[in-house]
Amino acid sequence: MAKNIVVIGTQWGDEGKGKIVDWLTENVAAVVRFQGGHNAGHTLVVDGKKTVLRLIPSGILHESVHCYIGSGVVVSPAALFTEIGELESAGVDVAARLTIAPTCPLILPYHIALDQAREAAKGDQKIGTTGRGIGPAYEDKVARRAIRMIDLLDLDALADKLKAVLDIYNVQLQHLYGQAPIAFETVYAEIAGYAERLRPMIGDVSNTLYRLHQAGKHILFEGAQGTLLDIDCGTYPFVTSSNCVAGAAAAGAGVAPQMLDYVLGIVKAYTTRVGSGPFPTELFDEIGAGLAQRGNEFGSVTGRARRCGWFDAAALKRSIQINGVSGMCITKLDVMDGLEEVKICTGYHLHGEKIDILPFGSEAVAACKPIYETMPGWTESTVGVTEYDKLPENARRYLERLSELTGAPIAMVSTGPDRAETIVLEHPFHD
Ligand code: GDP
Ligand code: IMO
Ligand code: MG
Repeated sequence: MAKNIVVIGTQWGDEGKGKIVDWLTENVAAVVRFQGGHNAGHTLVVDGKKTVLRLIPSGILHESVHCYIGSGVVVSPAALFTEIGELESAGVDVAARLTIAPTCPLILPYHIALDQAREAAKGDQKIGTTGRGIGPAYEDKVARRAIRMIDLLDLDALADKLKAVLDIYNVQLQHLYGQAPIAFETVYAEIAGYAERLRPMIGDVSNTLYRLHQAGKHILFEGAQGTLLDIDCGTYPFVTSSNCVAGAAAAGAGVAPQMLDYVLGIVKAYTTRVGSGPFPTELFDEIGAGLAQRGNEFGSVTGRARRCGWFDAAALKRSIQINGVSGMCITKLDVMDGLEEVKICTGYHLHGEKIDILPFGSEAVAACKPIYETMPGWTESTVGVTEYDKLPENARRYLERLSELTGAPIAMVSTGPDRAETIVLEHPFHD
């Protein structure tokens, strides 16, 4: 029986990870974010009430569960406190149920300024980042100059580190991008203001998860973004700056890979992407517009319209392999209701050759011409269906074909945003 599950996005993000993490949380003692930051937007709907989470793990609505932010996450204290404030005013107790690893790098105002200045300077070559400072924060971590949670415990030493970092940022902001420099005093005062409130939340996440595991408790690892946005495996450079694949859960939470028993790949029944970058099955017609409209495909963080397209089984194949997906959860099936026919991309023509798996690198992906297979659609509504057998026959055929083409079994299907609108074929936590 699986004890610990890793939930990851298999496409370009926004597959519905948050909904499924919330749904699975009743089985666990702990929910852990292991990468990304507040570039994520995870939407939970419980009895019609919507909650959007960015940094706080999607288990937070279950009172008995403790949430953890592992060292692979870049944390903006400002965004964190805004989110805690929103949740607490909705009656959700957060501060006592959240532990943050001391090794998390902080996202500070200069990261955001540089992210936005770079994007503006790139014009139509821009990545389309969320403008949250994610890239620069990870750059500092890799360059070994990040200000981390642990630095809040010694504000004098932090002041020296901050001065050194700001020197680097201000040279870039002023001389590369013609922006005003950021004053040390302002940032230092902001950090010092957070320190007292953050200190009680800092704890040894790695050791706590180890002990929970030894005590036989179940743990849920929550991925953000998606495999095709992964810094190594995605459509580079149109990616985020962290590893979003299942393997990153171990390093990003500080646990051994043997603790990851089951990988649940969240798979949207069609494809979406927000921001720039190649997208072979993108639709520019009324079918794409219909998916966007019925699927309410607008970013939960930035409000940006998401680009929509047919299901890409060749991209999924890549994702299934890299993540070792044990079972898939197909989401947003209901959004495809009413289409006369549905198409699935099974491979591509690339430079005169036929291939059946997404290539690496954005130039190659941009050159891919999709090969489609067409299936009949279904006119009946699947909205809110909770039993597999009650799905229209053509919807079941579509799902079964997705499983056949990608080589992964279907564990769950989601037929609406609400926690209750869920079909279970093989419960990931049960035998
Ligand atoms: P995440 O980033 O992977 O957690 O996904 P988001 O929350 O950003 O985007 C998924 C969107 O689809 C949210 O608005 C969800 O409420 C919604 N959603 C999730 N599952 C379903 C589903 O099965 N059907 C429909 N219609 N909406 C869904
Ligand atoms: P969730 O967890 C969809 C995209 C941005 C941009 C690229 C880099 O909700 O699935 P960044 O700000 O990370 O440097 O932006 O990655 N992106 C996402 N797209 N869902 C997300 O998160 C995303 N997080 C980042 O749009 O193209
Ligand atoms: Mg999202």
